[in-house]
Amino acid sequence: MAIIKVQKGTKDILPAEMPLWHFMETKAQEIFTKYGAKEIRTPIFEATELFARGVGDTTDIVNKEMYTFEKSDRSLTLRPENTAGVVRAFIENGMHRLSAPVKLWYKGPMFRYERPQAGRQRQFHQVGIEVFGIKQPTADAEVILMAVNYLKALGLNDLTVELNSLGCPNCREEFKTRLKAVIKPYLANLCEDCQSRYDKNPLRLLDCKSTECQEIFAKPEIQEVIHGDFICEECADHFEKLKNYLDALGIKYERNRLLVRGLDYYNRTVFEIKSNSLGSQNAVCGGGRYDSLVKNLGGEDTPAIGFAMGMERLASLIGEKTEEKLKAYVVSNNTLEAVKLTEELRNNGITAEFDLTNKKFVKQLEKASKVADYAVILGEDEISGNQVTVKNLNTSEQKTIKKEEIFNLLR
Ligand code: HAM
Repeated sequence: MAIIKVQKGTKDILPAEMPLWHFMETKAQEIFTKYGAKEIRTPIFEATELFARGVGDTTDIVNKEMYTFEKSDRSLTLRPENTAGVVRAFIENGMHRLSAPVKLWYKGPMFRYERPQAGRQRQFHQVGIEVFGIKQPTADAEVILMAVNYLKALGLNDLTVELNSLGCPNCREEFKTRLKAVIKPYLANLCEDCQSRYDKNPLRLLDCKSTECQEIFAKPEIQEVIHGDFICEECADHFEKLKNYLDALGIKYERNRLLVRGLDYYNRTVFEIKSNSLGSQNAVCGGGRYDSLVKNLGGEDTPAIGFAMGMERLASLIGEKTEEKLKAYVVSNNTLEAVKLTEELRNNGITAEFDLTNKKFVKQLEKASKVADYAVILGEDEISGNQVTVKNLNTSEQKTIKKEEIFNLLR
């Protein structure tokens, strides 16, 4: 019979990779908790409308990449990202009544129907933060600080923080008008995607990857618009203050005026953290401020900012983490005594196994040296003397001790 295979763009995360995933997850909990963030888990599917309204119906995510299905006349979608879901939960659970800032962190799978390639999957995992209730740039700085410190805790220091300000809806409208005017003469030469973005979402023209479009955007009159400071005084002041905080905190960043991000909800601060060693899918983290989203989804007007990181991309940068061995493997011809001691070891917080198949003593010892740090040997003499022999499988040292001493020794 034909074997059923894993779906394109999805992957099994196998036991050998789990130490690495546990490392990323425990560090997230450890670091984000230090900043006062609480974990939230939202459902993996939501009403399609949440993403259409939340992420924006001119975005690639909503237009091309959603896994949408119908059930009982309802249109549902596997979450392509988690900001919209967390905002929904924030509103639905009245979290605006909590004392600000409300800091929520999450981890879990996301789904986007994209062309799979290195660093890009159809099911991938994100770890992220959303901070609600603070409009001041201190929140922007703290969110970026959390991202950088989490990456440091993973041992990833060689990364670049790119920063931009998209302004507010008012100043952005003027920028869009100027950008469209200067690009108009070249419209027919732009790629198909850009031609449709031109009317629907002109800011997205800036992050088109096509070389033909990039050549057009490099023209001096277009560069002049891109590099002109279009943001209003208030937005400029927010951005300046953020940069001052980052400087004071010693966080290095680069201004990237082409950074617009592929989701519609952003205003003011946007940022990405990139690695030089990841090829074309080089962003490990993307985030920004989204001050209108809570209100647009029916909640109280609440400013917010956050980020998400792709865990598969983090994993490929961290490299391997070796699988942890068991602490103890109990070796004995007396199965009943072996099971009792193994269970006692576990109850004392020590990882332990014993042979379930009644293999010969020597075979059990061989197995122990493959899977554990210590063999705990229970021969007839040990059993009658209420003792155990413990063998360090790395150094081959061994000694016989009182049974009750084994728990402290191995803990
Ligand atoms: P995003 O830029 O779409 O932002 O995704 C964040 C990160 O998820 C990316 O930088 C990348 O590391 C990873 N990622 C995205 N798509 C894939 C994929 N197909 N395969 C593997 N990794 C991927 C968001 O999702 C926003 N919700 C971030 C945010 C939170 N903004 C404010 N709060």
